Amino acid sequence: MDIVLSGIRPTGRLHLGNYFGALRNFVRMQHDAKCYFFIADYHSLTTHNDPEHLHENVKTVLAEYLAAGIDPQVATIYIQSDVPQVTELSLLLSMHAYVGELERTASFKDKIRKNPSNVNAGLLCYPVLMAADILLHRATHVPVGKDQEQHLELTRVFARRFNNMYGVEYFPESQPYNFGAELVKIPGLDGSGKMGKSENNGIFLADPDNVIRKKVMKAVTDSGPTEPNSPVSEGVANIFTIMEAVSDPSTITYFKEQYAACTIRYGDLKKQLAEDIIRTVAPIRERIEAIRNDDAYLHRVVCEGAEKARESAAATVSDVRNIMGIRPF
Ligand code: TRP
Repeated sequence: MDIVLSGIRPTGRLHLGNYFGALRNFVRMQHDAKCYFFIADYHSLTTHNDPEHLHENVKTVLAEYLAAGIDPQVATIYIQSDVPQVTELSLLLSMHAYVGELERTASFKDKIRKNPSNVNAGLLCYPVLMAADILLHRATHVPVGKDQEQHLELTRVFARRFNNMYGVEYFPESQPYNFGAELVKIPGLDGSGKMGKSENNGIFLADPDNVIRKKVMKAVTDSGPTEPNSPVSEGVANIFTIMEAVSDPSTITYFKEQYAACTIRYGDLKKQLAEDIIRTVAPIRERIEAIRNDDAYLHRVVCEGAEKARESAAATVSDVRNIMGIRPF
């Protein structure tokens, strides 16, 4: 069976793009593969967070994953720092990771360019820790976006090198996984590009209804079609793309016909989109609030997840120690 592992850095609230891009697919996938979902809090430390923020952000991501439908009885959901084996595996893997290849990683070069006063060793070793996350459970598939593909490539380099070095077939070559036709890319509402946290154009799963309405009503459009079947500007196309994810097909047909006939009113289109987004988001938001307020439940989920993750992790680290020659007398 496939072993799927996904890691997310706790950088704050999740938006519609996260939900339709990955989260909703994870919820489906958890029944078909052995899934590990973890929150990469150690990785967050490479950019020196405020401790209070870090803790709150971990809680937010955890509550949002659960609210979206990740079932801790089905999948293993845990916090990276609850599984100390990852640090040992990271140390062991670092012995076969060359400084040169780490220095050449695009994400490292990018970070040190943007922040030359904080070129810390954790940042350099980021790909080693990430490889440890993945190889800890000998994951065969890792859902990642484009920006993480190089890290996954390095994970395969480390796995292959380890296998060759010790003459074993121990680590798999973890493959990137994108959801194929299931992958829905949600654009922003600011006229171009994707929805993203850093783009500041997100509709968040925790947004109240009136905030969603306000954000949608501000969406960039154009001055309207002037002749039948005139080309659709990017802003308007983006509205239709989001509708594909949240609206009834008949609703989309209705507005497309109005567009083709030049009778469309963007105000109506946006109002409809806002209500359809709210239909998706409101129940999730309500669950987020309930879960965030249930410390006992969160505590239980985190403990049980850590226990399951440690079981798999301990087996791997024990094997790796043995392979490398760290053996009991
Ligand atoms: N580096 C990933 C990101 O920034 C997060 C991450 C850490 C991760 N460890 C991982 C993703 C292991 C997949 C597998 O998005």
